[in-house]
Amino acid sequence: EHIYVFNYNVQVYDATNTSIERRKLIHHLVCNRFGFKLFFVESICDDPKIIESNIMEVKIRSPDYKGMNKDEAVDDFMKRISYYQECYEPLCEKEEKHLSFMKVFNTGAKVLVHRHEGHVQSRIVYYLMNIHITPRSIYITRHGESEFNIQGRIGGDSNLSERGRMYSRALAKFILEQKILRLRVWTSNLKRTIQTASGIDAPQERWKALDEINAGICEEMTYEEIHEKHPHDFASRDKDKFHYRYPRGESYEDLVARLEPVIMQLERQENVLVISHQAVLRCVLAYFMDEKSEDLPYLKVPLHTVFKLTPVAYGCKVEQFTLPIDAVDTHREKPEVPGTIM
Ligand code: F6P
Repeated sequence: EHIYVFNYNVQVYDATNTSIERRKLIHHLVCNRFGFKLFFVESICDDPKIIESNIMEVKIRSPDYKGMNKDEAVDDFMKRISYYQECYEPLCEKEEKHLSFMKVFNTGAKVLVHRHEGHVQSRIVYYLMNIHITPRSIYITRHGESEFNIQGRIGGDSNLSERGRMYSRALAKFILEQKILRLRVWTSNLKRTIQTASGIDAPQERWKALDEINAGICEEMTYEEIHEKHPHDFASRDKDKFHYRYPRGESYEDLVARLEPVIMQLERQENVLVISHQAVLRCVLAYFMDEKSEDLPYLKVPLHTVFKLTPVAYGCKVEQFTLPIDAVDTHREKPEVPGTIM
């Protein structure tokens, strides 16, 4: 799989490179022949409970077992493990002392890093140290409708509207009915998300990093006012919404960077409800749903809607609950002609 990690080109070679000999060959090809850096990740698991739940929840859903019945698949996978056990040579600090690698024991109970070679590798280590496989869900919602939402103004720090306050009550009821174990609630630092969370009976945290995109010189304006006063900026944003940065403000690309600690902390948590804003939640959703950066700024995150994200094998299950309280629509589609108001 080919991915980009902060503009670095990264190739993920997903395979069981079981022998020292084979890893030597890969090292020769990748490092000596092509001149890239190479980092092995070895996951060692000897806890029978983790192995069993991994087979039940992950392996039998893998494409290898499509159409096969459950018992047959489990049996086959157990056989596979025992074959590997016969021939597998674990990464060895002595015999492979020239290699960069990390070992993760029992899905993160212990981690070993050997000869890491810089930024990208240390970020991979950081990421793999934060993810976990305990089942949980992340609930995501925008604040209730705000006074600025009604006026079509962006940014600012206005209070909830009457309907927004109704949403806050409906949300508290919805969350209570879900009976979520050890729920934690995260809001931004802005009044509208704090007010939205006010009726929820769970520990709460405020995150400045969850504040809405900073629209700089366009804060508190309507799209029509921006179109009129800053037509060039308005059109530039339509041309490349992900990279466009508001003068003295932020771009979606900046937001993604600002949200990294939040995402990493979300990865570590169990059940969390995040109450934030349109642009911020587009970034959070795009991360979990693996959306492309050019589509990210146009993801639909309507007001008065709760998204429930549940990580599952090979992806993330997304459920959407629209609570029955009207709200304005703040979504602006990409226009055919950049800079035009529809
Ligand atoms: O309109 C609500 C809002 O949250 C604004 O505060 C923010 O600037 C905007 O949405 C972000 O959406 P877009 O990037 O589509 O303008």
